[in-house]
Amino acid sequence: LGADLTQLARVGSTNQVLRERMRREHVPEGAVVLAREQTAGRGRLGRVWWSPPNQGLYVSVLLYPPRTRQGGILSLLAGVALTDAVEQATGMTPGLKWPNDAVMGGKKYAGILVEGGTEPQPWAIVGMGINVLGTVPEDFPHATTLSQELGKDVDIEGLWRHLAKALEQRYEQWLEDGNAPIIAQWKTVSVTLGYAVEVRTPSGLITGIAEDVSDDGTLWIRQGPDRVPVMSGEVSLRLA
Ligand code: BTN
Repeated sequence: LGADLTQLARVGSTNQVLRERMRREHVPEGAVVLAREQTAGRGRLGRVWWSPPNQGLYVSVLLYPPRTRQGGILSLLAGVALTDAVEQATGMTPGLKWPNDAVMGGKKYAGILVEGGTEPQPWAIVGMGINVLGTVPEDFPHATTLSQELGKDVDIEGLWRHLAKALEQRYEQWLEDGNAPIIAQWKTVSVTLGYAVEVRTPSGLITGIAEDVSDDGTLWIRQGPDRVPVMSGEVSLRLA
């Protein structure tokens, strides 16, 4: 991973840069685009990703998951790898909110956006945005940066080296052993399971207790005698 590395000062979106290159030519698996700043950083659910210069790690990685595997798990896998990397770089263990919001001190410090398709072969662009240095503007009350939480600066380059290695290791583990070990690890850092939650899904609001995540990445919500599966959505903890 990273043998094909493009480092840019300023881009619209690193995911978009990879996408456009794929339209022009064959891009090798493991190709990476890194930027110091994004002017049109994209978040999940059509949102904008705040990407100020030199304060964050904005990176996209191209993968070609095997046809026989569910690529959907890659967003959880990326969250697990990011957690490994932050732990190695800082000594602190952050949490993951389903599916893959990376949180520390109850606030989000990083987000993951996986975009994918099946032509000409299954592909996935794993985009990660990590708030590393400085502080987050006050209009993002639920967001933070790693330095803000740790009370000291974190080296962006060093974090990237850990992340590249962790991503490679988790991806290889997944190719060899499948979803189960990734999901098992995801559960150990989950800040979702066991809590009363409210999930905004494409088909409406679901409330209940977040009970389990199955090996395909589905979140199961307990509602009295029923269990409701959630494949995509936005979880918030419900204050009793
Ligand atoms: C989220 O909404 O939580 C996901 C945010 C993902 C942001 C990253 S930054 C690098 C890559 N390029 C983008 O435009 N988005 C992702």
